[in-house]
Amino acid sequence: MGKSGRFGKYGEHKRMARLRNSGIREMRPGKKMRPGSSADVRPYRRPSSETEVLIREAQPSDAPFIQSLSKKAFGQYGPYEEMLPEWFLAGITLTLVAVQGRVPVGFAMLGIIHSDPLSVRESELVAIAVEPEAHRRGIGDRLMRNMIKAADERCVERMHLHTAVDNLPAQTLFQKYGFSKARHKEKFYPKGQDALMMVRRAEWGSR
Ligand SMILES: CC(C)(COP(=O)(O)OP(=O)(O)OC[C@H]1O[C@@H](n2cnc3c(N)ncnc32)[C@H](O)[C@@H]1OP(=O)(O)O)[C@@H](O)C(=O)NCCC(=O)NCCS
Repeated sequence: MGKSGRFGKYGEHKRMARLRNSGIREMRPGKKMRPGSSADVRPYRRPSSETEVLIREAQPSDAPFIQSLSKKAFGQYGPYEEMLPEWFLAGITLTLVAVQGRVPVGFAMLGIIHSDPLSVRESELVAIAVEPEAHRRGIGDRLMRNMIKAADERCVERMHLHTAVDNLPAQTLFQKYGFSKARHKEKFYPKGQDALMMVRRAEWGSR
């Protein structure tokens, strides 16, 4: 680790600090769980594609699932299997989980809602991921629709996100839900990849 900390050089350093320094009490999960506890990570077993998918708010007991899917989905960009469960357990995110039968198959995480009276109410969609074996079955769609509804209920006027410049499936999903390309950020990720920042204004908030 260098002097400036593990993510000192990259955009994620600022994001981590912002998330940590802020306190959104209304979004705290009910119960604390020991961070890093991964004793309960079970291997993913594919449910029948016929089984109904439900979306619910994540519980502390979902932390091992968030950790294991973060590693699969985002491990190539940095240590997200540490960062995302840590942010979730810190109670500074709104996290939704998609469950099929009793098996968790995806999650989406919204960061702190910034509510400076002089600027728009804004939040970052920190992550969305679906188990690779369950891709292309509409689960990403369900998570996005529910997250946008949750953001609307909290009067979030503007959402932004970062995704890798070469992550075309994700960019297609985000464009489908009204996000547009805003900025290219060089070496944004801990492992050095560039990111694309995308933004979306709430339909009710557009002037
Ligand atoms: C992006 C991701 C969440 C999509 O989840 P999914 O459950 O497969 O998505 P869905 O089946 O609900 O598809 C929803 C929309 O996403 C887009 N999409 C998803 N996969 C796509 C692909 N391989 N190619 C092009 N578009 C794709 C399409 O717009 C699709 O809508 P359509 O079916 O009307 O064309 C999933 O690919 C994933 O987990 N990727 C790894 C993690 C990641 O990159 N997250 C985003 C950055 S935070």
